[in-house]
Amino acid sequence: MNELELACDNFRKLLLEQMQRLEKMDGEPTDYSAKAQVTIGLADGDGIGPVIMQEARRVLHALLEQEIKEGTVVLKDIHGLTIENRLEKDEAVPKDVLEQIKTCDVLLKGPTTTPMGGTMESANVTLRRELDLYANVRPVTVPEKNIDWVFYRENTEGEYVLGSRGVELPSMAVDFKVTTDQGTRRIARAAFEYAKNNGRSRVSIVTKANIMKKTDGKFTEVCHQVAQDYPDITVDDWYIDIMAANLVNETIRDRFQVFVLPNLYGDILTDEAAQLQGGVGTAGSANIGDRYAMFEAIHGSAPRLIEQGLQAYANPASILKAEAMLLRHIGRAEQAQRLEHALQECPLTVSPVEPSVTCTAYTDAILQLL
Ligand code: IPM
Ligand code: MG
Repeated sequence: MNELELACDNFRKLLLEQMQRLEKMDGEPTDYSAKAQVTIGLADGDGIGPVIMQEARRVLHALLEQEIKEGTVVLKDIHGLTIENRLEKDEAVPKDVLEQIKTCDVLLKGPTTTPMGGTMESANVTLRRELDLYANVRPVTVPEKNIDWVFYRENTEGEYVLGSRGVELPSMAVDFKVTTDQGTRRIARAAFEYAKNNGRSRVSIVTKANIMKKTDGKFTEVCHQVAQDYPDITVDDWYIDIMAANLVNETIRDRFQVFVLPNLYGDILTDEAAQLQGGVGTAGSANIGDRYAMFEAIHGSAPRLIEQGLQAYANPASILKAEAMLLRHIGRAEQAQRLEHALQECPLTVSPVEPSVTCTAYTDAILQLL
């Protein structure tokens, strides 16, 4: 077979695989309040991961002390989600680690390093796919500027699902983007349900459907179909380029409330939004599926901080925000609120650029405020 035929053959296989993925997609969200016991997995990750996760553990123990004693909540350490182990096994998430994770209901995860180049996939992408965590929920708030946004980023499709499996021909490279009806419907449903249940009156769809006509065209169309079930919510759709501008346009940005968008645009726009809030170190992120959910900081493992010996000044705010989202997700709203309140009230800021308050000192202050 020549290279062109091989590529076409490969494309057929990818399409069949995606059709099979679609068949497994229908599920019902888990009701954690109906469970006698909820298991929270804790995976440290790499770089500054163990530093911030140690603080996240202290806060979790303080908030759930009674429940841990009574056995309604179990905290379980997940071992082996480290770059050393992943490189040694040559797996983005080694099988035995994935098995440990699957024994938990939800996972709090420190940042994991993705090696540059090579073929190893990001552990985040693998976990999102393997646990089918289709909704990436990222709130961004700047109260003094009247900014109160929640992003619903589709988390299992788009440019990511076949991102490591593009085609290379001599002098040419092609990647694939996949958008499905079911995949879009469930993220749109999640966004509209959130809006309905939290008193939000507007959902904005963000794509580049004028250019990516098939995939983003489908995304927009399906979101509008879902919107018909929510007549009290205003819906509009925007292109990603102008939305990137809107977020820094002070005259209109506070009108936006909930966003629903495909994977890659969501990746980019949420970093921009997080920066308006004070940087990616300040934002938490939830990856939610029907069976499992994973909560994480939106920043990386910061190897430079380790090299400079500044890991004690890693900011735990992002992982603590993710922890609050985890608590809310498993129906521990009261504890979530205590933590959110402490994070809002804490007068300290941790920054490796001006190393004065340590990660531990900040967490001590949070524990005082709980
Ligand atoms: C994020 C990150 C990831 C992504 C990387 C680490 C694969 O940037 O969670 O936003 O692109 O989704
Ligand atoms: Mg990102």
